[in-house]
Amino acid sequence: MKIVKLGQQGLSVPAVGLGCMGMSDFYGSSDEAENLKLLDEALELGCNFWDTADMYGPFTNELLLGKALAGRRDRIILATKFGIKRSEDGKWLGISGSPEYVKACCDASLKRLDIDYIDLYYQHRLDPEVPIEDTVGAMAELVQAGKIRYIGLSEASAEELERAHKTHPVTALQTELSLWSRDVEDEILPMARELGIGFVAYSPLGRGFLTGAIKKREDLEEDDWRLSNPRFSEEAIANNQRLVEKVEAIAKIKKVTPSQVALAWVLSKGDDIAAIPGTRHAKYLKLNWSSQNIVLGEEEKKVLDEFSSTFIVVGERY
Ligand SMILES: NC(=O)c1ccc[n+]([C@@H]2O[C@H](COP(=O)([O-])OP(=O)(O)OC[C@H]3O[C@@H](n4cnc5c(N)ncnc54)[C@H](OP(=O)(O)O)[C@@H]3O)[C@@H](O)[C@H]2O)c1
Repeated sequence: MKIVKLGQQGLSVPAVGLGCMGMSDFYGSSDEAENLKLLDEALELGCNFWDTADMYGPFTNELLLGKALAGRRDRIILATKFGIKRSEDGKWLGISGSPEYVKACCDASLKRLDIDYIDLYYQHRLDPEVPIEDTVGAMAELVQAGKIRYIGLSEASAEELERAHKTHPVTALQTELSLWSRDVEDEILPMARELGIGFVAYSPLGRGFLTGAIKKREDLEEDDWRLSNPRFSEEAIANNQRLVEKVEAIAKIKKVTPSQVALAWVLSKGDDIAAIPGTRHAKYLKLNWSSQNIVLGEEEKKVLDEFSSTFIVVGERY
């Protein structure tokens, strides 16, 4: 198993973790018993770095993980997030990073997860109205209180990372990174590296697109959030397929799956990078887990790097 040490504090996590969002939200229907079974299987494999957020569900993803954590808390590295406000019925209520909100969210997450501490606590989206020093200051108090072990940020800019890190060491930055989302490589990832902050790549499979499983809108369920994402319009899917074809061609030669090539490419970006692919299927979990053993040759990396850096992806990330 490939281990990644996140941040200067060296939080050790498997290079391939498990994104749990899709089990409760955004990507269509799912079944609690199946999800709990999948979480058991993940743990058996060694895939014990689990990612959730209070707003997934909303709130039900943490409740699900609470059930999966019961009786074996110490075997799981649990990451959750606060900062995007949603009502019980799912409405979006904006962003908050106020110190009082941070502390209230942490207590609420601990309660839903039914645990005493969170391993890695991320600010999900930064609040432009609240200085990052104030939010991270409140997170530092949570560290002092033993409620969280490590501090993370999600989708922070290079400047925000620098400011946050001066307030309290930041262990991980979680941001989208995949063959169709590479903008973080320009300034943000180099800044994270300069500061010794680890990187957790979310949506490493391009929300499923890079696996080759989504060829048309009808491949998604009617209530799937991706249908409202610009990259999944009919035009975008048709255009962006050319990137998938490149991945599929390399997968064919290597006798692996496109999903494995897409993930191996993310991991090839550095030993300080962990990825958290999301899945609800045991078959996919195993494929994703095994991607850490797939080594892309120099020529394969070059082809993927060059093609993806010049390819014009149709549709914004959000
Ligand atoms: N910080 C943030 O703002 C943020 C934003 C988005 C996501 N995240 C985190 O990142 C995690 C992963 O991102 P994501 O779920 O958006 O995208 P992803 O990991 O890129 O892709 C997930 C999709 O790919 C499918 N899939 C997974 N493995 C596959 C395989 N081997 N073959 C074919 N299809 C496969 C899944 O299907 P099934 O589910 O049907 O198995 C699901 O539809 C989330 O769970 C969440 O924890 C964080």
